[in-house]
Amino acid sequence: MRAALLGLLLLAPLVARADTQDVTLIERGSYLATVGDCVACHNGPAGTMAGGRGIATPFGVIYTPNLTPDWDTGIGQYTPESFHRAMHDGISRTGAHLYPAFPFPWYTRVSRADTDAILAWLRTLPPVRYQPPRNELPFPLNLRVSARAWNDLFFSAGYFEPDPTKSAAWNRGAYLVEGLGHCGACHTPKNFLGVDQGGRQLQGGSLQGWWAPNLTGDARQGLGDWSADEIVQYLRAGHTPRSAASGPMGEAVAFSTNQWAEADLRAVATYLKDLPGAAATRPQPLAADSPQMRAGEAIYLDRCMACHRRDGQGVANLIPRLAGSQVVQQEGPDTLLRLVISGVRSVATDQEPTAPAMPSFGWQLNDQQVADVVSYIRNAWGNAAPAATSGQAGSARTVVARP
Ligand code: HEC
Ligand code: HEC
Ligand code: HEC
Repeated sequence: MRAALLGLLLLAPLVARADTQDVTLIERGSYLATVGDCVACHNGPAGTMAGGRGIATPFGVIYTPNLTPDWDTGIGQYTPESFHRAMHDGISRTGAHLYPAFPFPWYTRVSRADTDAILAWLRTLPPVRYQPPRNELPFPLNLRVSARAWNDLFFSAGYFEPDPTKSAAWNRGAYLVEGLGHCGACHTPKNFLGVDQGGRQLQGGSLQGWWAPNLTGDARQGLGDWSADEIVQYLRAGHTPRSAASGPMGEAVAFSTNQWAEADLRAVATYLKDLPGAAATRPQPLAADSPQMRAGEAIYLDRCMACHRRDGQGVANLIPRLAGSQVVQQEGPDTLLRLVISGVRSVATDQEPTAPAMPSFGWQLNDQQVADVVSYIRNAWGNAAPAATSGQAGSARTVVARP
């Protein structure tokens, strides 16, 4: 009896320690899942992580699976090994090759310790019994062998390799940007097969009718003129005096970067600020007296100047500046056409609860007029970027109209 009691007393601290270790593991997993923004795609009609959100790809709609620990419809049967294989190799527990709409080409760089923590956290969620809809992909892409072929051709698994010549913050930033943060999933241009264009890492890309800007050090299109503080503020609050996050980036801020630890945001800024400038195009500005610039200017004076000002400087913290803006001078005009057609309200965050809005002009301006005013702001006040066409404005209108 006494021996048993003694044994219990001796064991008690061990048990307590195991518990706190679990709690720390689960908390870390919850944080890492936020950094990876799993919820952005795996939320759906049955709940936060229960899946069923349709991800539109150029090839068709892929529905996200249920990541709650339900045994039959969720990740209940995943082990730390099979879960790591899904994240690292893009192969599911049952051996199926996964489509790269799941950003495993970035998650492959995530360490085993980090995927273990994420799984430990997922297991604490209430199980939801829910089977997401079947994918809407045309033959032969609906066959898993096509995902396998894609992976064989274009994907190589590999862990993040720290660069010993760089600081700890730089390496942490690189791990987050190139791995769990999967920034390149949107910010790196893709070819028609959805493959990263070689050597054009983080130079900006088009997705779902938005343009994810160039994040390299390029001064006109990229973050060359941004300070590290501004990058941190943008990722934390969704706004800086020069730019506001809307669309997919608004979601990324609201669900993810807004909740990152200060040190991790600083690390990302350190890494991004160290990227050399790179851009595909360095265009000459359109001549101020060209017909498109004249037409665009007339529309600007009429519809935009009241808020954005004659000189394109905007109003600090309320109306974004268009002169010298990276958003305005990106290689692709996708975001601008969409903004003018449908208007925009950016995210409200705890740091800045009321977000100002911009009205829609799609019902007042035809495709040519939208293209003209967009081409004007891209080439006025020292800006320079390729002109937009009425055809591009027409396709933007179609994307915006889609539910
Ligand atoms: C950009 C959208 C997106 C994000 C972000 C995302 N996923 Fe997914 N995920 C998907 C899609 C789409 C699939 C289904 C792919 C398929 O059917 O081939 C998937 C599949 C999976 C699977 C395979 C499940 C199975 O057996 O079917 C796992 C595990 C998974 N995701 C975990 C995660 C985790 C953990 C995170 C966050 C760190 C995450 N995902 C973030 C889109 C996403
Ligand atoms: C789901 C797609 C997506 C992901 C993932 C994403 N971004 Fe973005 N990002 C965008 C889009 C689209 C914009 C443009 C938003 C706008 O103009 O309102 C943007 C804008 C930005 C900007 C502002 C640039 C400028 O010139 O105004 C920064 C900085 C940025 N993203 C950093 C990041 C970082 C760092 C990550 C990874 C942690 C990331 N983004 C992940 C889509 C994405
Ligand atoms: C009533 C005021 C108002 C008018 C009129 C207006 N805007 Fe805006 N605009 C805004 C506000 C506010 C934002 C920021 C919206 C957000 O991100 O929440 C904005 C954002 C923008 C942006 C994105 C800038 C960035 O860095 O993210 C562009 C480009 C833009 N407007 C162009 C135009 C053009 C072109 C017109 C005329 C056709 C116009 N705006 C008319 C208020 C206005």
